[in-house]
Amino acid sequence: MSELSPINGHPKMASAISDRAFSRIAAIAAREAGIVLAASKVSMVKSRLTRRLRALKMSSFDDYLDFLEASGDRTEMNNFISALTTNVSHFFRENHHFEYLAGTILPHLKQKLANGGKVRIWSAGCSNGQEPYSIAMTLLKAAPDLAQKDLKILATDIDPEVLARAKSGQYFGSLTTGLTDQTIASFFTKSHQDGEDTLTVTPNVRNMVSFRQLNLHADWPMKGKFDAIFCRNVVIYFDEETQIRLYKRYANILEPGGWLMLGHSERLNESVTQLFESAGVTTYKTKQTISSPAPIGAHESKGPV
Ligand SMILES: C[S@@+](CC[C@H](N)C(=O)[O-])C[C@H]1O[C@@H](n2cnc3c(N)ncnc32)[C@H](O)[C@@H]1O
Repeated sequence: MSELSPINGHPKMASAISDRAFSRIAAIAAREAGIVLAASKVSMVKSRLTRRLRALKMSSFDDYLDFLEASGDRTEMNNFISALTTNVSHFFRENHHFEYLAGTILPHLKQKLANGGKVRIWSAGCSNGQEPYSIAMTLLKAAPDLAQKDLKILATDIDPEVLARAKSGQYFGSLTTGLTDQTIASFFTKSHQDGEDTLTVTPNVRNMVSFRQLNLHADWPMKGKFDAIFCRNVVIYFDEETQIRLYKRYANILEPGGWLMLGHSERLNESVTQLFESAGVTTYKTKQTISSPAPIGAHESKGPV
């Protein structure tokens, strides 16, 4: 939870959060998304959820929580979960994974494609899209002909706002962090929009990535297996039981020998070491497949996947 911080602005303060309301918030967050909310996070939670109250024109946390629980409104539940997590990301974040992709994984992917196979990569918790676009740019830089092959990158997030930014492929200001002049020249067009110098991802990169809304703790509609999953700086919010369940599901949806990349402060738990072997810094490979455990919450996320 170390990265939690206000996303933008200083929301008008709503009424105070009572201990009971905070307990309800923590219980919903744990049930729906396995998110751990320590009592020390109360002011962060108040600041984040005040924006949801304002959007719904409500002035009391109790009213909001009554609505959240009674209405069964999945969109608002996703907004609630999104408000409690951060969207911080940047291009080529933790660059060793992109070096590993180009140097170690790519030869396997090329071989698979040459044998008539398909390649599927999943950026799970993709935020504003910098991660999946970094994957696409890494692959295209190393092998430009991949754009014409059966290679697709699925990018999912629970938060509709970051997905809208990601789909637009438009970045400005701090959202462009991590890009070199060479990468910009190769994979972006420059323009000036709404008073901002804007970089737009080129179509050959965008065409490789499909964005979908998905709660990682709900059902997954994907049918096929993935060759690699990037799930970085996402599980940090989840309790251990939820992490283990997620890792087991990843093992099940990865090809045997498929790769899982985690964030810099995330590690596989002891209890899944029979499923994965270490393959580098926060990089793992599956050993075998297992049967899929049921998702917690078991609610379908809103929107097509
Ligand atoms: C800190 S960002 C990480 C972005 C990128 N993976 C990176 O490492 O730069 C975490 C993302 O996980 C998403 N997220 C959190 N809980 C989620 C859940 N239950 N299902 C899907 N996405 C979730 C958040 O909306 C946020 O965009």
